[in-house]
Amino acid sequence: KKYILDLKVASIEYVNPKNVLIRLTDDKPLPEMLPGQFVEVRVDSSPSTFLRRPISVHFFDRERNELWLLVAAIGEGTRALARLHVGDILNCVLPLGNTFTPASNPGERILLVGGGVGVAPLLYFGKQLKEAGAEPVFLLGARTASDLLQLSAFELYGRVCVTTEDGSAGEKGFVTNHSVLVSEHFDRISTCGPKPMMMAIAKFAHQASIPCEASLENMMACGVGACLCCVEKTVEGNLCVCKDGPVFDTNRLLW
Ligand code: FES
Repeated sequence: KKYILDLKVASIEYVNPKNVLIRLTDDKPLPEMLPGQFVEVRVDSSPSTFLRRPISVHFFDRERNELWLLVAAIGEGTRALARLHVGDILNCVLPLGNTFTPASNPGERILLVGGGVGVAPLLYFGKQLKEAGAEPVFLLGARTASDLLQLSAFELYGRVCVTTEDGSAGEKGFVTNHSVLVSEHFDRISTCGPKPMMMAIAKFAHQASIPCEASLENMMACGVGACLCCVEKTVEGNLCVCKDGPVFDTNRLLW
C-alpha cells in the first residue's frame, strides 16, 4: 500500500557543502518502510520542478518516528529541497519500489558498496542486516575525504572501508580496487551509486561467483510504472526501475 503524506521537516542540516540530511516526521506513526525502498517528494518551488523527485530511504527511525533523506543538492529540484526549513511540509508518496534482500542466516557476510550519495540507502540496510545477526561490511567511495557521507553513522552497524580518488581518506583509487575485495570472502554484495561503479562491482562479483544486487538510480518521473522513462534492459525485457526495482540481481541486467 502506498501513502501520500504531508510530512514535516524535523531537522535539516548540511553534512558537507553539497549534501543535506533531511529528517521528516508526522503526528501519526509513519508507515513501515524497508531498506531499498524510496520516496517521491514533490518540489513546488518553481513551475519547472513540478515533478516529484525520487529519493531513497536513507534511514527509518521507528522510535523517533523519523524518515531520513540524504540529498545531493545538484539540480533545481534537489536544491529547492536543500532550502527547506524546520517545520516546512514536504508532500511524499511512500513507500515505493522493492527492497534489498534481507539477511538469510546469522553470520552471513554481506558487502555493501556505495559511491557518492548512492551510499544513502545502505545505512538503513546495514542496520537491518546487523539486527538480523548478519555481518555487514561497508565499502564506501568518494572523490575526496569531504565527499564521504555519514561515516560515523555507518560505523554503528559494521566495519567501514573507504576509498577516495585523491587518496585523502582510506585507500587511494576506486571501490573496485580496494584490498578488502581480494583479502576477504563475502557471501554476497549489494551496491548503489554511479552506474559505472555498480557495473564494475557487478563484473567483479560475477567473476568471483558472488551473488550481487544493485539499486538503480535511473531518471524517474511518475514513480509508479506509468511513464516508462525509467526502463532498464533486462534478460526479461524492459523493466521499470520504479516499479520492478529499484533493486535488481545484477545477473538479470544487460550490462
Ligand atoms: Fe514512470 Fe518509472 S518513473 S515508469
